[in-house]
Amino acid sequence: MKILFIGDIVGAVGRNALKICLPKLKLKYNPHFIIVNGENAAAGRGINSSIVKEFFDMGVHGITMGNHTWDQKEIFDFIDQEERLIRPANFPKGTPGRGHTIVKVKDQELALINLQGRTFLPPSDCPFEKADELVEQVKKKTKYVLVDFHAEATSEKLAMGWHLDGRVSMVVGTHTHVQTNDARVLPQGTAYVTDVGMVGPMDGILGMERTAVLHKFKTGLPARFVVDEGKWHFHAVVVHLDPATGLAKKIELVRMDEDQLMFE
Ligand SMILES: [Fe+2]
Ligand SMILES: [Fe+2]
Repeated sequence: MKILFIGDIVGAVGRNALKICLPKLKLKYNPHFIIVNGENAAAGRGINSSIVKEFFDMGVHGITMGNHTWDQKEIFDFIDQEERLIRPANFPKGTPGRGHTIVKVKDQELALINLQGRTFLPPSDCPFEKADELVEQVKKKTKYVLVDFHAEATSEKLAMGWHLDGRVSMVVGTHTHVQTNDARVLPQGTAYVTDVGMVGPMDGILGMERTAVLHKFKTGLPARFVVDEGKWHFHAVVVHLDPATGLAKKIELVRMDEDQLMFE
């Protein structure tokens, strides 16, 4: 069982990169499930129904979100109906949408859980408690469990990896948009990486046009950030799971850019 998880897809450049890279990755890895983080897909902020459809038409099986979930108002029109798209599960009770789901391909089922960190991010319920509750629930249905932990602090992400080691197939970090080089299988069998990295403009700052970001850093004045244009880079992970246990055997980092189509 192989899972391809692709980090935060940022704007039109990111969506175009996905369109270019996905057929190559399908050929190279032949993944059973393809999951993407879509919180920045629409102009860097949120997602809309036509992008959701575009992703599913490309062969994506599930979409996770994060702190940008509500940035496109249109999401309220479809989030309750679209079972393959999830937002962080530890948002307050009564929030629209769902924080976990089970996606199916043929006779295989993969549980997806989305959680958000509490360090340097808006207040939310405890992600560790929520993880306990949901892992117990979904493991009654399938042994394959993917957790996207959308968080800022590396320490909080590592804490979640250790918290869930041996209980889920993989804990992958999103949100910081920079791929970390710490991918490993933890001792009890959970694949872990602090951040998968982003898909989108490579010469901006985390996908945003860099002059506005620089201006803000240098002057402290407010600035309007827009998604950058230009060349893309692409970051993902491929996780190999043992069908006997649902735990991980191997995690591979995927890193490509427009000039150098595939390198490790
Ligand atoms: Fe993001
Ligand atoms: Fe985020």
